[in-house]
Amino acid sequence: MSQAHRAVNFQELIRKKRDGGELDTHDIRAFIHGVTTATIQESQTGAMLMAIWQKGMVAKETIALTREMMMSGKVFRWPEEWAGLVVDKHSTGGVGDKVSLPLAPALAACGCKVPMISGRGLAHTGGTLDKLESVPGFSVHQSVDQIRQILQDVGCCIVGQTETLVPADRVLYALRDATATVDSVPLITGSIISKKGAEGLCALLLDVKYGSAALYKDLDSARILAQSLVTTGNALGIKTGAVLSRMYTPIGRCVGNTLEVFEALECLKGRGSDDLKELVTSLGGYLLWLSGRSSTLQCGQEEISRVLTNGEALQKFRAMLEAQGVSKDHAQTLCLENTDYSKLIRRSEYQTELQSLNDGTVLDIDGLAISIVVHQLGAGRTKVGETINHSVGAELLVDPGQHINKGQSWIRIHHDCPELSPQHCSKLQESLVIGSGDNFEANTRVTEFITPDRHLPQCIDSDFRL
Ligand code: URA
Repeated sequence: MSQAHRAVNFQELIRKKRDGGELDTHDIRAFIHGVTTATIQESQTGAMLMAIWQKGMVAKETIALTREMMMSGKVFRWPEEWAGLVVDKHSTGGVGDKVSLPLAPALAACGCKVPMISGRGLAHTGGTLDKLESVPGFSVHQSVDQIRQILQDVGCCIVGQTETLVPADRVLYALRDATATVDSVPLITGSIISKKGAEGLCALLLDVKYGSAALYKDLDSARILAQSLVTTGNALGIKTGAVLSRMYTPIGRCVGNTLEVFEALECLKGRGSDDLKELVTSLGGYLLWLSGRSSTLQCGQEEISRVLTNGEALQKFRAMLEAQGVSKDHAQTLCLENTDYSKLIRRSEYQTELQSLNDGTVLDIDGLAISIVVHQLGAGRTKVGETINHSVGAELLVDPGQHINKGQSWIRIHHDCPELSPQHCSKLQESLVIGSGDNFEANTRVTEFITPDRHLPQCIDSDFRL
């Protein structure tokens, strides 16, 4: 046992944090080592999490926590010639958020390497892995060697968490859930940035969402999290930036795994909703700028827009599908200019349209309410490991700002039960807000860009290198 881990008095560490003290690097290293090697009692870990939740952490502590978590497992090392090319983004989760699907291949088409490690949906938010698993044959389980090969051949992959990356987060995340300590800025920062740091990135972009359908309901708390993520990522040697983006109405027009894949394919074919395109170009352009591949944010955005319209991103997506197990025929047909997706991916048994009860302008569509109904119809899971129905979903037939007539269909629900319940119908009808268009203001999704801080806290240990 090394000097650093000998005779740790966990009670003392818990007391120090509980009483509002600052943990030093050695304290945090000992705590995370205890978590990773199961030499700390679960009750002590729970108590420490609660102390952190209550007293918070200063930036130095959050950085040390994140770094120790990241180093609790393997950290990807990439070939030297990929220096400056390996990038990724993380979103705090939204309704209809299929941005990763077009973004990863668009970045690959711009010469980046994107080892995107994504998650599954839980509660009302969908997961990128679930979406991709609606494509027959697609496998999210790839070994480290396979990931490297796909990055070499294609440039991007979208895969599940590997066993060896950040084992401390697996333990801490489960205990945070059990001890009501999930919503803590330093703990969220540690969890997100440690996993992204372990991907061996040169640049990282965080999409921090705020609004009624997001984890953070108001802009100010989203900004606090974004600042913490940006400060910590940069202190760990990753060029990290963030955007704050609005999350009220669903992104694009589709919610639900299969439907979102169709919509992502449309975006890759240069078509579809403007807000989805805006997010893909803004996030992608920012990453190109952060990683130094574009001289300005605007040039980066134009570059992403170019590969979405000229088919290069679509071809990367097709190659990624094939590399991750989809048959060549299937992948090629999905990516044809005009194809009937439902011939290749199962659609739900039933489709029901609801009609507007009034005339007027569509002012709002409550994304949270729609995602709850879709979740209850089988599209999402309540417990980790539950099976889901990929074909269940909702398709919006109108956009905010548009005029709608009484009796006009505004949403199509895809479901496998024969009928929607009256409760589901009324919840959906309540989610559509119609009024006078006089004061309607069209909003962009991205409302703020947070750039890397020039005055970063020093990385605490001089022996630490990525
Ligand atoms: N996503 C994570 O990976 N961890 C958190 O704590 C929150 C969101």
